[in-house]
Amino acid sequence: MKITLVLVTLFFYNTKAQKIDAQELRCLVCKVSLDELHKAVNKIDPTKTVDVGGYRLDSDGNYRHKSVSQAKSEVHLSEMIEDICTKMDDYVRATWKSNGTLTLLKLITEDGKMNNDMSEVNLIQDDDLNKSLKYYCEGIMEEMEENIIKHFQSGTEDVDKKVCVEESAICGKKINEEL
Ligand SMILES: *[C@@H]1O[C@H](CO)[C@@H](O)[C@H](O)[C@H]1NC(C)=O
Ligand SMILES: *[C@@H]1O[C@H](CO)[C@@H](O)[C@H](O)[C@H]1NC(C)=O
Repeated sequence: MKITLVLVTLFFYNTKAQKIDAQELRCLVCKVSLDELHKAVNKIDPTKTVDVGGYRLDSDGNYRHKSVSQAKSEVHLSEMIEDICTKMDDYVRATWKSNGTLTLLKLITEDGKMNNDMSEVNLIQDDDLNKSLKYYCEGIMEEMEENIIKHFQSGTEDVDKKVCVEESAICGKKINEEL
C-alpha cells in the first residue's frame, strides 16, 4: 500500500516535471522565429528591389517604375514570413540543466557546427512535440503577420519584444510571474 503510494507520487512528480507549459513554449517559438526572420531579412541584398506598380517621376523628368527594396516589400516580407516556420525544424526543446528552464535549442549553429550548449541541456524527447514547434510558429505568424510586416518596414528594433510581448498576449504576464 505504501509502495503504491510512493510510486503514484513519483509518477505524478515526473509527469509534472516534464509537462511543458504551452504558453511558455509559444513565447519561445515567437521569439526564436522572429529572430530567424530578422536574420533572413538582414541577408537580403540591399540593392534588390521589387516593383510595386505605378510610376514615379525622377529628378530628370523620366518616368520610372515605383520600387522598394526587397527587405521592405510587403509581398516579399509576407513570403518570408510564410517560409520562416520551416526553420523550426532545426530546433529542439530542451531544459537547461542549471535551472530547469525550458529553451529551444538550435542543434546546428549558423556556421554548421554542433551547438555548444548541447551539453548544458537535457533534451525533451517527444516526436510529436518537435513537429508542433512549426505548428506554433505558423499560428503566430498568421496572427501577427500585419504587425510583423509593419515593424520590418519601419525598421523597428526588438521586433520580437514588440510582437510577442507588447502587441499580443503570446508572452503573457503568467510567464513573467513564473520567472
Ligand atoms: C537558465 O540558465 C540558462 C543557461 O545557464 C540561462 O541562459 C537562463 O537565463 C537561465 N534562466 C533563468 C530563468 O534563470
Ligand atoms: C525530436 O527531437 C529528438 C531530440 O533531438 C530527436 O531524437 C527526434 O528524432 C525528433 N523527432 C522528430 C520527428 O524530428
